[in-house]
Amino acid sequence: MSGKLVSEPPLKPENPEILAALYRLFRDFFDKAEKHRRWSIREDIPWDQCNKSLNRAIADVVETFCAVELYLPDYLAKVIPQNRAMRGRAWFFANWGYEESKHSMVLEDWLIKSGHRTEEQMADLQHDVFAHEWNLPHGCARTMACYTLTQELATWLHYNRLLDVVRREGGDPALQKILTLVSVDERAHFDFFRRMVMIYLEYDREGTLEALRRVVNDFSMPAVHMLADSRMRMEEVKQLRIFDYDIYYKHVFEPILEKLNLTKKDLRRRSSRREIVVLGNGHS
Ligand SMILES: [Fe+2]
Ligand SMILES: [Fe+2]
Repeated sequence: MSGKLVSEPPLKPENPEILAALYRLFRDFFDKAEKHRRWSIREDIPWDQCNKSLNRAIADVVETFCAVELYLPDYLAKVIPQNRAMRGRAWFFANWGYEESKHSMVLEDWLIKSGHRTEEQMADLQHDVFAHEWNLPHGCARTMACYTLTQELATWLHYNRLLDVVRREGGDPALQKILTLVSVDERAHFDFFRRMVMIYLEYDREGTLEALRRVVNDFSMPAVHMLADSRMRMEEVKQLRIFDYDIYYKHVFEPILEKLNLTKKDLRRRSSRREIVVLGNGHS
């Protein structure tokens, strides 16, 4: 992601039916999360079963994922104002922020308890993260919903594939439990945005397809390029076969098409002025 705000039109109030549908979607998501998905960092991880001799490359990747999660204040600070008049989305992000805050904490705890990092090293990482501010890649709330849909599935995939690597490399019951719990959260986030984008497709198919095209044809994960040693960190992720373009295409791009009942033709880049104007007409 460039981190640069793409110029898009200011938001207009949305159709009241859409707002009501989004709020119902959030309440359903929230009720399910309260009932089935709450977990405790202190109680639910077998902390006495960290594998102190796990491959160091895995610890490096855990630290990178922790860094991406640590940008949470920027994610929330930018995304809440964009959604403040849309209660279903604003309340979702309040809950989302709570869940995401646990992800960086639990990964940091594992890095320290497993002996792969010291508290001082984690303080340095935070310093590095907060030296640069993350900005929204898209100024339009609906395009951001499409971006977050893609990013949540890609994030789920990162954790899920790292879990496979940990199992292959001798295992670590504490880290495996962490990656399982976090990836269930990420999958639930993806599912929320999938349902939201389905509502938008029903309401304005062409405008939503254009928003999706902007995102999926030029996607990159948030914030990974912003750290001092980003190039090396991204290379480690590729080396462990966790994420690269081919993996993105097969395990993110194609599943998104399938889950939204779309075809590749629907998302082929188009530059017709008419379609750009459709999105630029105030739809968010
Ligand atoms: Fe997360
Ligand atoms: Fe997430």
